[in-house]
Amino acid sequence: MKSKASLLFITFALVALLFGILFGLFATVQYIDPDFLKEYVPFSKMRPFHVTSIISWIILCATGSIYFFISKVEKIPFSLPKLPMIHLIVFFLTGIGIYISYITGNMEGREYFAFTPILLAPILIGWVLFGINYFITIRKNIINWPVYYWMWGTGIIFMIYHLCEAHLWLIPSFREHFIKDMSVQWKSYGSFVGSWNMLVYGIGIYIMSKIKKDESVARKKTVFFFYFLGLINLMLGWAHHTYIIPTEPWIRSLSYVVSMTEWIVLVHIIYSWKKSLSLKNKQDNCMAYKFLMAADFWVFLNIILALLVSIPAINFFTHGTHITVAHSMGTTIGINTTILFASVFFIVSKIRNEILTFKNFKISYYLFNVSLLLFLSALFYAGVKRSNWMYFTKDLPFSELQDSLYSTYIVFLIFGVCLVVAISYLATVLLKIVYNTLKA
Ligand code: HEM
Repeated sequence: MKSKASLLFITFALVALLFGILFGLFATVQYIDPDFLKEYVPFSKMRPFHVTSIISWIILCATGSIYFFISKVEKIPFSLPKLPMIHLIVFFLTGIGIYISYITGNMEGREYFAFTPILLAPILIGWVLFGINYFITIRKNIINWPVYYWMWGTGIIFMIYHLCEAHLWLIPSFREHFIKDMSVQWKSYGSFVGSWNMLVYGIGIYIMSKIKKDESVARKKTVFFFYFLGLINLMLGWAHHTYIIPTEPWIRSLSYVVSMTEWIVLVHIIYSWKKSLSLKNKQDNCMAYKFLMAADFWVFLNIILALLVSIPAINFFTHGTHITVAHSMGTTIGINTTILFASVFFIVSKIRNEILTFKNFKISYYLFNVSLLLFLSALFYAGVKRSNWMYFTKDLPFSELQDSLYSTYIVFLIFGVCLVVAISYLATVLLKIVYNTLKA
């Protein structure tokens, strides 16, 4: 079973992940020693290198997985069979363009899109190609679509919309209005994450239904309820990103209520699915199953943190501290990355037609989860100390705060290294298998 474009997407995704964690590690060393590699890649560049590589991992792996599931597992031939490869080439060249843009210091973009904004054009072209092919190929039987088809389709459409929205600041008349500009910018980032969550959660539900060999997992009322909740979250749950901006109070209240809901349903879905599995289901899909279980645990932990940081009075103190970073890394590593690892393990079991036993991955699996917990705890602690410094200490210089955080950063680095070791092992084993399949 081979699908060149989808496996190449996954290959590039794993390479982006390996680069991403390396940049993350270097950025952490720069917390401790700001002069580390400063001449070549200062923190202001290292961070975008890390974040862009990591986002590429999520997007490329989700895209490759969806291409693979449709063409190789569902065996639905693409109506436009050449488009996945063109899509891949467009994204590959854009990825090179982004790195060049960072290396040469052309970083006029903002936040997650710090690269030169002209590169938005090929990114949009890639998504439009993906969308056209996706909808033309699976448009039949729309009434009977399982939930993951809705989730993937919605994710693609909203991704195109929010990528445009995130760049409205390029219009001078828009940029002149500061509050409007900031509100829309932060809203769009929240919704951008919501769009890739649609793709990734859809992949999670897809794998669950395949492991259980029961399509009803993806057709139950609860999963559709979850889909609509996710959609409302995508459209409205972003406002905890904008609490500090003086917008209308009802926007904050509505978004607070909305952002509480989504993950609770996801925990429920994974939990009831797990209970309904037979031992054979679990054994046959061992690694994918294990990573879905890890996702369940991390969803649960992140709910607690998200519940807290979404309360406006608490958000006031956490905004701009490492607690926010712990929240975003907690979700992108704990939830997105675990579901995507489950996806790649599932794909690998299909292409190799054999089961990868847990025994070979036991150490890396536990190292991944335990070090992530301690890594995030250190970050959280650093955030509490910084918030205390920002709001409750008077005239204490920043350098003193940094000195007092030295040992916390060391702990953060140690568990960061453990995380890098675990992820590198998992990613290289998977990379080798996918690469060998492509070569064969
Ligand atoms: C799959 C693995 C990873 C993912 C998905 C991930 C994701 C992210 C994201 C989304 C951010 C931006 C946070 C924000 O804007 O709030 C970030 C920042 C960061 N990450 Fe990671 N990360 C990963 C691995 C790592 C590792 C292994 C390390 C260190 C060893 C690391 C260190 C950092 C640092 C230092 C920052 C900058 C925080 C700041 O702005 O002060 N990351 N990461």
